[in-house]
Amino acid sequence: CRVVVLISGSGSNLQALIDQADPGLCQIVAVVSNRPAVLGLDRARRAGIDARVLDHTGFANRDSFDRALIELIDSYRPDLLILAGFMRILTPAFVAHYHGRLLNIHPSLLPKYKGLNTHRRALEAGDGEHGATVHFVTEELDGGPLILQSAVPIAADDTPETLATRVQQREHLLYPRVMNWFAAGRLALQNGRACLDGDL
Ligand code: GRF
Repeated sequence: CRVVVLISGSGSNLQALIDQADPGLCQIVAVVSNRPAVLGLDRARRAGIDARVLDHTGFANRDSFDRALIELIDSYRPDLLILAGFMRILTPAFVAHYHGRLLNIHPSLLPKYKGLNTHRRALEAGDGEHGATVHFVTEELDGGPLILQSAVPIAADDTPETLATRVQQREHLLYPRVMNWFAAGRLALQNGRACLDGDL
């Protein structure tokens, strides 16, 4: 399974994907960042993976950026495209182009807390638990079919930062597992649902 990963920042999830990819199944063939000089690009290079920058600030609008992004990604002929801290909203045309082979990880127990600042919002709501979710990407932001979720407890003295760290540790377990399922042909988007091993 040829995998392309999109990032915008530190790439700790990218590192987990690199470290835990099943070598017999997955090959991460490129990492693309919309921001230059981020740590995630160094992580890719260190692993011998093509590290490419497509700076969105050089484009007149979202459509032209997404068209160029598709062209760059497709030059690597990916079977799977993984969003790992990619902080850009993608156009419907982009999402449609990768239908069924586009994954995202979101730092909340979806459908709770779509969008930004999820840790602060979970704390402000007085929730007892928080977590992370891997899902297929559809047109609705953070609203695609859920694949796998993991919950962590919220402690009384948590800050958004301490909570983020705890959630990220779970992200680093969830995402590689889902990538390897997909690469093994065990996971598919069928009739708007995420199906594991054909039918679950
Ligand atoms: C993660 O918390 C992920 O859930 C969110 O962006 C963050 C990316 O972190 N979508 P990193 O770049 O993988 O370290």
